[in-house]
Amino acid sequence: MLSKPVHIAQISDLHIKSPDTLAYGRVDTAGALERCVTALNEFAPKPDLVVISGDLADTPTGAEYEHLKRLLAPLKVPFVSIPGNHDSRQLMRAAFPQAYASAFGPLNQRVEIGGVDLVLLDSSVHGKPHGELDAPTLQWLEATLVSSPDRPALLFLHHPPFKAGIWHMDRQNLLNAGELAAVVRRHPRVQLIATGHVHRAALTVFAGIPTTICPAPNHAVDLDLDHLREPSFKVEPPAFHLHSWFPGEGFGSVVTHQVPIGDFDGPHPFFGPDGKLL
Ligand SMILES: [Fe+2]
Repeated sequence: MLSKPVHIAQISDLHIKSPDTLAYGRVDTAGALERCVTALNEFAPKPDLVVISGDLADTPTGAEYEHLKRLLAPLKVPFVSIPGNHDSRQLMRAAFPQAYASAFGPLNQRVEIGGVDLVLLDSSVHGKPHGELDAPTLQWLEATLVSSPDRPALLFLHHPPFKAGIWHMDRQNLLNAGELAAVVRRHPRVQLIATGHVHRAALTVFAGIPTTICPAPNHAVDLDLDHLREPSFKVEPPAFHLHSWFPGEGFGSVVTHQVPIGDFDGPHPFFGPDGKLL
């Protein structure tokens, strides 16, 4: 087991439009991503990798992916990506040629990084808002997890496999969550399941594993837990997730930090030169 911590930044739901076009006529998603890239570049220690967990584009079109590539060009950290319901497998494969597990079909991939395996799953269903892991993806997941049983594995997919309590999002989460749970339960090396899609941070335990939703750099889905409103969004404080893996007993440990994006006062020292609290 390698003894170095691994820091994985997760950003999600970028919804990049063509230049000079606002999402829903209101949200400057390109400006939001620029601020996110600045925050990632300034973060110390430098993350080992950025995972973009779906909805990279919005419509999607080739022009949107070209715009996205230009916006990501200043990013000083390598990145990998998986599709969400707003993406096109074909356009993503063309825009971001990566080491996908298959030359066609779902854009799954495994990334070895230090002592950790990242397992990126394509849960997109063409033309549909909900997610589903198709049979080849589930078979690939099983084979991938069985291949290195001693290495901790972090799973990433766009669609949460659980209800967040927001009625219109719960209708479009991962449809076959039970099939994912069955695979995960067979492989104790899975330490985290990290998702997106809802544009706001959430945490639960799924199949015995900590499972997160990553907030977005732009707008959030309104936290409407009582079906009070039509599907709505709010512009809330933007953020990304930093999943830090630390080596240790067994599979080590993983902690997820939520990192706000923006200029904030500090950091300031707690203690003066005399060692006393200021
Ligand atoms: Fe989505």
